[in-house]
Amino acid sequence: MTAVETEHKGWLGRSVKRKEDARFIVGRGNYIEDIKLPGMLHMAILRSPYAHAKINSIDTSRAMELPGVVVVVTGDVLAEHKLAWMPTLSGDTQAVLATDKVRMQGQEVACVIAEDPYVAHDALELIDVDYEPLPVVTTPQAALEDGAPVIRDDKEGQTDNRIYHWEAGDAEATEQAFAEADKVVRLVTHYPRCHPAPLECCGCVADVNPATGKATIHMTSQAPHAHRTVFALVAGLPEQNIQIISPDIGGGFGNKVPVYPGYVVATAASLLLGRPVKWIEDRTGNLISTGFARDFYMDGELALKEDGTMTGLRVNMLSDQGYAYADAQPSKFRAGLFHIVTGSYDIPAAHVVTDGAYTNKAPGGVAYRCSFRVTEASFFIERLVQTAAYELGVDPAELRRQNFIPPEKFPYTSATGFEYDSGNYEPALDQALQRVGYKVLREEQKRAREEGRLLGIGLASFTEVVGAGPSRHYDILGIKMFDSAELRVHPTGKAILKLGVKSQGQGHETTFAQIVAEELGIPPEDIAVQEGDTDNTPYGLGTYASRSTPVAGAATAVAARKVRDKARKLAAHLLEASEDDLEWRAKTIQEIAFAAYTDHPEGMEAGLEATNYYDPPNMTFPFGTYAVVVEVDRGTGAWDVKKVVAVDDCGTRINPMIVEGQIMGGLTEGYGTAAMELITFDEDGNCIGSNFTDYLLPGSWETPAFELGETVTPSPHHPIGAKGVGESATVGSPAAYVNAVIDALAHAGVRNIDMPLTSDKVWSALNEVGLAE
Ligand code: CDP
Repeated sequence: MTAVETEHKGWLGRSVKRKEDARFIVGRGNYIEDIKLPGMLHMAILRSPYAHAKINSIDTSRAMELPGVVVVVTGDVLAEHKLAWMPTLSGDTQAVLATDKVRMQGQEVACVIAEDPYVAHDALELIDVDYEPLPVVTTPQAALEDGAPVIRDDKEGQTDNRIYHWEAGDAEATEQAFAEADKVVRLVTHYPRCHPAPLECCGCVADVNPATGKATIHMTSQAPHAHRTVFALVAGLPEQNIQIISPDIGGGFGNKVPVYPGYVVATAASLLLGRPVKWIEDRTGNLISTGFARDFYMDGELALKEDGTMTGLRVNMLSDQGYAYADAQPSKFRAGLFHIVTGSYDIPAAHVVTDGAYTNKAPGGVAYRCSFRVTEASFFIERLVQTAAYELGVDPAELRRQNFIPPEKFPYTSATGFEYDSGNYEPALDQALQRVGYKVLREEQKRAREEGRLLGIGLASFTEVVGAGPSRHYDILGIKMFDSAELRVHPTGKAILKLGVKSQGQGHETTFAQIVAEELGIPPEDIAVQEGDTDNTPYGLGTYASRSTPVAGAATAVAARKVRDKARKLAAHLLEASEDDLEWRAKTIQEIAFAAYTDHPEGMEAGLEATNYYDPPNMTFPFGTYAVVVEVDRGTGAWDVKKVVAVDDCGTRINPMIVEGQIMGGLTEGYGTAAMELITFDEDGNCIGSNFTDYLLPGSWETPAFELGETVTPSPHHPIGAKGVGESATVGSPAAYVNAVIDALAHAGVRNIDMPLTSDKVWSALNEVGLAE
């Protein structure tokens, strides 16, 4: 028996039903669209039809005359208040409303504020803008050519379209490895642009109280505290007078991390008009103007010995950032990408170069179900390893096994200079192979081939990196990346936990309550978890890139342990014993909580609460192996998924049901990218993929079934051994799907094909190698 009788039921590892679902199931969620304030006005945004054009004039007079219109805001009006431009989370600038030029299709040009949302939208058609079209840059390669139009000519000293150039690793050692290699394989590929497309688009209700000057902004924010600070910096409002409330959010996936012009104009309008202003984005607005994902060009080589040992990796990456650099990238290096570009492999030398360029497209490259370009890096190394297996004529599973970082080498410093905290890759590979029936499948594949059928088996063994900080390496706009938890136990033994992160559907109200329950024995249903209201939660950097569990989950465990330490002292006082003797006698946490407010010892502060700002010593490195089986139809190029096995290791699982839900979401997303999702642009910069008939998302009908497995390698530095999991399925599965389709065609020499693998593209590849029917 311990000092604090916790009725220890082991709350970690239990599939506790999601507490938050009760309100969602009965339609009582509280989303931005549900918020209605007295006297509220409505805002609609006029967007540019051109991707690049000079603005000669904007005439708002006809719109202003429409009954119900209160005001039409243009960039010139904002410029009078120094609000026409705003900083991005990557330290660049972005127009709030265009003044000189538009630089992407869909850019915000003017806003109508009206008594009624329909009037606001009708009035947009009455605004006359005189545009003078300019040459358009739609690819980063074109952007970096000599003589390309300088997109950001508004920026002093910007003479070309390059945004950044970063390098990692050792160029000389890599050169040497390639010079000595027996075999070099090369892959040139593009990870296409896609969009997080959350179910709920972005929006806000800005309410600036004219009497007190307090700005209460209800907004779809994955990072409410960081957004509060940005608002203070942009609008010059005193930070104590800004309250960001992020209510229930219908998905974020990185898309709700950047600050968008709509939030800023609605807040400025509320400030000027003294009335609340609501802005709700429509689907096209979301798809064409908010943070997209990927759009990464990769060209690299892998050096190997004759026997298959990997000796060197060289990669050049070019990223299409759109017209502003706004993906909330930590300032010091290409986080994520540089960490794990060598994948799960013990590659002694690597050199990686990455450049970013402005184009006439929406800003983005957000951490969409991954942390900071991890998906792209992971995709690339897995595709390269698969290519190497074919060219060496060896089994792709065995080539992976041969080159895995062995478990005894952890913590492992990669050739790009980052430390993997833990890993044990073979058991995950073995489990995936065993579950998918790999040996038998390879036999079946041979037989199928003899019958003229194209069966493919694809693998991906990924390593992810999640949980930014540590703060010495990561900051957003100088704000250090830590996270926080504040735990208060009430006299009746019920508790409230307040966090700096913000769920967008991940189930934090359940899993974080489980962490407290594990530490203190208060059942999860007695613990309220509060997030998203900056006046009532401690400062944190928010939820994206799977950082909540590694960072805020650790803060929660540490805060609970502080409470437990005080509870021990209270228990000793109640039992009139010394703390050391408590092994033998007990008080329940509920009795102790009551005493904290009614019978605490002399000299001890009343109350039972603790706060922790957790700065992790390192990121965590979840991993796994996925296997996908497909059959390709030679007549149509369509590919049918026969089986998907996903084995993930995210350390200690707090709530296995929630983890599985997260993985299935990621697998669906991976399937979507591999099979159908694509946002592209014509030569004039018109966005193709601006609605759900052009931009295809997988529904339950076409999404294949998944079989999930797990291994458990706890993070050695996390207080409960948990690693984040939210995104790893997205990281691993696209490569596994593409590798499976290529495997089906491989014997005929198809080594590369870009996503999405639409049937016409696959059929053309089949046709080229004489396999089409
Ligand atoms: O930052 P975000 O919440 O998107 O990602 P995460 O930290 O990977 O967690 C996603 C969800 O899975 C949360 O509800 C976590 O608490 C839960 N989870 C878990 O139960 N066990 C883990 N080892 C990791 C995450």
